[in-house]
Parts: sequence; C-alpha cells; structure tokens
Amino acid sequence: MLRRFAVFASGYGSNLQAIINSAKRGHIKAELALVVSDNSKAYALARAKRAAIPSVVVDRKDFFSKGEFEKEILRALSEHKIDFIALAGFMRVLSADFVRRYKNRILNIHPSLLPSFKGEDGIGDALRYGVKATGVTVHFVDERVDSGPIILQGTLKVKDADTRETLARRIHKVEHKLYPQAIRLFSEGKLKVAGRKVFLK
Ligand code: GRF
Repeated sequence: MLRRFAVFASGYGSNLQAIINSAKRGHIKAELALVVSDNSKAYALARAKRAAIPSVVVDRKDFFSKGEFEKEILRALSEHKIDFIALAGFMRVLSADFVRRYKNRILNIHPSLLPSFKGEDGIGDALRYGVKATGVTVHFVDERVDSGPIILQGTLKVKDADTRETLARRIHKVEHKLYPQAIRLFSEGKLKVAGRKVFLK
C-alpha cells in the first residue's frame, strides 16, 4: 500500500505546490494525504483545496500549551494515517517529543547551505554576510533547529547585484526541484540514515 504523507505549511506554499505537481505527475511514490497549517490565512490552504487534498488548521492560539497544540496535530495525523511529514515553510518549532514520535520521518527544507545560516532568515542572513555561494538544504528533522542529517543540497551563486528578492527567487527555483526529489527518494525507501549521514541505498 502507498505510504501517506502530510505537508505542514504556514504561508505561501510554493513548495507545497511543487510537491503537489510532482505527486500529480506520479513522481512521488506516496500519497499526499493531508496539509496541516497553523495559519488559517495561509495561501497554502487554497492550494490544497484546489488540488482536493484534505487540510486542517491547528492554531496555536486555540491551545493552552504547546503540548496541547501538538497533541491536536498528532490526532489529525493519526486520523489521516500519516506515515511521514514534509515541513514546507512551517513557522513553528516542533518539540523533541513530537520529533521522537516521527523519528527520521520528518523532512524539512531550509533556504541556505546548512549548517550556515540556520534560523528564520537564511536568505537575508547569507546575503548580509557576503557569501559568494549559497543554496538549499533538505534534511531530516531532529530535536534541534535546522540541524538534522542532510538528505540533499543544491547550490547557487550570489550575484553582486542581488537583493533579497532576486536571490530568494533563484533559491525558490532550486527548492522546487530539490524538495520533490528528496521526498521521492524517501518515498521509495532509498534513504539510509547512519548517525549524521544519509546515504542513497
Ligand atoms: C522556503 O524558502 C523554505 O525553504 C522555508 O520557508 C520557505 C517557504 O516558502 N523553510 P513557501 O511557503 O513554500 O513558498
């Protein structure tokens, strides 16, 4: 039976769209069965609706604690029989408890070459630092932020004339290829995690 996965997104959802498109073309050997958002205004939800993918909004404000908030997400994941998760611009840090439940089954995409420029503004931070090359990282999520074993990385050059916008545009292009590719490899069972390293089987 096809494995089922969820995409978590808080905002625009261009990576979600790339994943939807790739899944539609039959490139991902798993079913995109749920979109989870913590933001009822996220454009990602409109994308899910258009693609007829069930979605659920779990708003942190509706819960007394982070634990309760995550419990509700876990409930939705269990209801939809979700085997693995792809975070795509999900602006909440998942607790160690949550991550342990889905150990090596949560993927994330970050817009820099990790371990450089972790955190919320990987693109702006790289540009301000003055690096000549930057990129995109898809990794497994562990208990710390932007730190898990790296699955794939893509690189690109920073141009002298780059602004945050022009660089972001090229970064997103790389993301939209790399993330579906990583999910595809994972869905086909081709990734083997050994400590910090991920090998292609
Ligand atoms: C992407 O740049 C991703 O790397 C980061 O959040 C952004 C989400 O963009 N984690 P979108 O919502 O998929 O367009």
